Amino acid sequence: MSATSQSPDLAALLSAMTLEEKLGQLSFYVARFASAGAQGANPLDAMRGEGDRLDAIRAGRVTGLFNLYGVTALRDLQRVAVEESRLKIPLLFAADVIHGFRTIFPIALAEAAAFDPALAEATARMAAEEAAAHGLHWTFAPACDLARDARWGRYEESSGEDVYLLCRLTEARVRGFQGRDLVLAPGHILATAKHFAAYGAAEAGRDYNLAEISRATLHDHYLPSFRAALAAGAATVMSAFQTVDGIPATANPYLLTTVLRGQWGFDGVVVSDFASDHELIDHGFAENRADAARLALNAGLDMNMESGLFMEQGPALLAAGAITMAQIDQAVMRVLRIKERAGLFADPYRHLHESDAIGLAARARSLSAEAARKAPVLIKNRTGLLPLPSVPLRVALTGPFARDTAHLNGPWSWFADESPGISLYDGLKDRLPAGSDLIAPEPGDDPAAQMAAMKRADVIILALGETSHHSGESRSRADITLPAGQLDLARQAHATGKPVVALIRCGRPLDLSALDPLADAILITWFLGPETGPAVADLLTGKAAPSGKLPASFPRAAGQVPLYYNHQMTGRPVPEGGDDQYKSRYIDLPPGPLYPFGFGLSYTEFAYGKPMLDSESLAWDGELRISATVTNDGARAGEEIVQLYIRDRVGSRVRPVRELKGFQRIKLRPRESVTVRFTLTRADLAFYRADDRIEAEPGLFDLWIGPHSAGGLAAHFTLEAPAA
Ligand code: BGC
Repeated sequence: MSATSQSPDLAALLSAMTLEEKLGQLSFYVARFASAGAQGANPLDAMRGEGDRLDAIRAGRVTGLFNLYGVTALRDLQRVAVEESRLKIPLLFAADVIHGFRTIFPIALAEAAAFDPALAEATARMAAEEAAAHGLHWTFAPACDLARDARWGRYEESSGEDVYLLCRLTEARVRGFQGRDLVLAPGHILATAKHFAAYGAAEAGRDYNLAEISRATLHDHYLPSFRAALAAGAATVMSAFQTVDGIPATANPYLLTTVLRGQWGFDGVVVSDFASDHELIDHGFAENRADAARLALNAGLDMNMESGLFMEQGPALLAAGAITMAQIDQAVMRVLRIKERAGLFADPYRHLHESDAIGLAARARSLSAEAARKAPVLIKNRTGLLPLPSVPLRVALTGPFARDTAHLNGPWSWFADESPGISLYDGLKDRLPAGSDLIAPEPGDDPAAQMAAMKRADVIILALGETSHHSGESRSRADITLPAGQLDLARQAHATGKPVVALIRCGRPLDLSALDPLADAILITWFLGPETGPAVADLLTGKAAPSGKLPASFPRAAGQVPLYYNHQMTGRPVPEGGDDQYKSRYIDLPPGPLYPFGFGLSYTEFAYGKPMLDSESLAWDGELRISATVTNDGARAGEEIVQLYIRDRVGSRVRPVRELKGFQRIKLRPRESVTVRFTLTRADLAFYRADDRIEAEPGLFDLWIGPHSAGGLAAHFTLEAPAA
């Protein structure tokens, strides 16, 4: 086994390739060829045997495999590719490393609640190290999907409803996975900006459903995160399943060629989502497999995931002149270049030497614990119930997740190591003040005993929410309330007259309006991973203070969704107080959320000073410096996420009522003050204008610095017109 070889001249390599070898470089498969998910789309479906798989690799018909890991198994496959195939082109090994690999971190939505790009970079970096130590070169992450509809199952994988926050997190995650070097350093893996584009705009929140979306909204809200990921160096892009403006994203020339290649200059690989090219037939967009292959390649797709369509249809399409060799060559060259970028020509056994996993687990677990403390959001804390007092307490912990360890990790955690995570019960039992009593009914306990335990308690903690199976791919829900049984339990707890804390595990913004009046304190805990128990216990007992903020508006009812803070102003906004007849409202609910984007409490109070601007106007090519003093007015230390919002008063397209343009996480001791500084330039004010240009427009802007999207003190400035 030769450990290293020279980087080949890629052009010479390309010219030595047969058509079949070229198409092989465009053919990527799930490692278990017979996967049920392929739904018969995969021509290699029949390849159930190890022998068939090896033959395909040996013949150069496979560019790489995904969702298989382990140095030994992968090295054997790589050996066949680089020692037994004619051109010895290494295979790429990929996996869905979404929120951790062997060590699970909080889901992306939870991590977004930490408003902490450095944390997102660190967890991606750690996940890359673990994945690389198990032989992988490529992850299908980060998800760059903006989400506005709480019914959508993959809300959990998104980073919420705001484009600015999403951009900062996706670029951080790309840097974490890939590092900053052109050729990836060992321990890094290639990233994928997915799902291009507007996958999160699925109508009615139903996964894979159409995205009916204006070009302005596409450019202002759904595309910038992809651009940010590419600017951070993302090597690959995955095309989405659904249609955008009636054209499937996987065969969408506007997205894949005009925008991605033309406007953004992307020169990496576009891979389809799982047989999304084959689904062009199901969409009624392609007549048959040949048509699907032609449409996808012509639109700008480089690589099939799972369908094998280019391999199967390429020769006939080429002979018929429906595609050209130049197109194939271009796609192959892109693939060869990412293999070079992954360091595979220099060392095809990269990441496949003896496992480097030793020592990683402990570091990863402590990072997971840190993230799990930063992600929860305290949305209610009546009469300062939390943190629990440091005196011996009788605590009743109940609800479906009190002792649960099966639903700590959330979706996309199938590579997690086998050691169980720590339940809320186990986390709390060691962390309550000495002399405390923690009563947690076992599943199946008599309801009367449960009631008796709650009645005897000083405080009742309800562990409520969703299971891991309630969110994730194809897990959309029409009803986003808590189950009736959980609400009954909350009513019983409330009826005891004892203080009630509700812990909400979830992968989406839930409708908590029925729970809200029944709980004195509510902590949104998302899916936090194996350190759930200790992290939540530290927050409840005040060893740590909650510091997360909602990355998504929590609705009052599913009937309000899509719901997002940065909506356009209508001609008939509901006035503050006063008559709301013939205004943009519901007759049965207020129009706004139950808890707004950006909202979250701490165990202390932060006072905001008025925003100070270094000038009342921003020159067209200038910079505006803005600052505000934030003071910790309470008696405990705490962290605050200071948020900067703007509103463009008049635009050639109606502008959002507010837009986040900056945030900073600060840490303050009691009575400490800091001055938080932001800078705005014209680029921050740009939008997709009525003349179809992405550019700012001169005029008056409002600005707020505050604790959430519905608060803050206001100031104003003017963007000056360019000098004539
Ligand atoms: C998902 C992708 C994922 C791919 C491979 C698809 O169903 O939409 O996000 O990367 O499967 O597992």
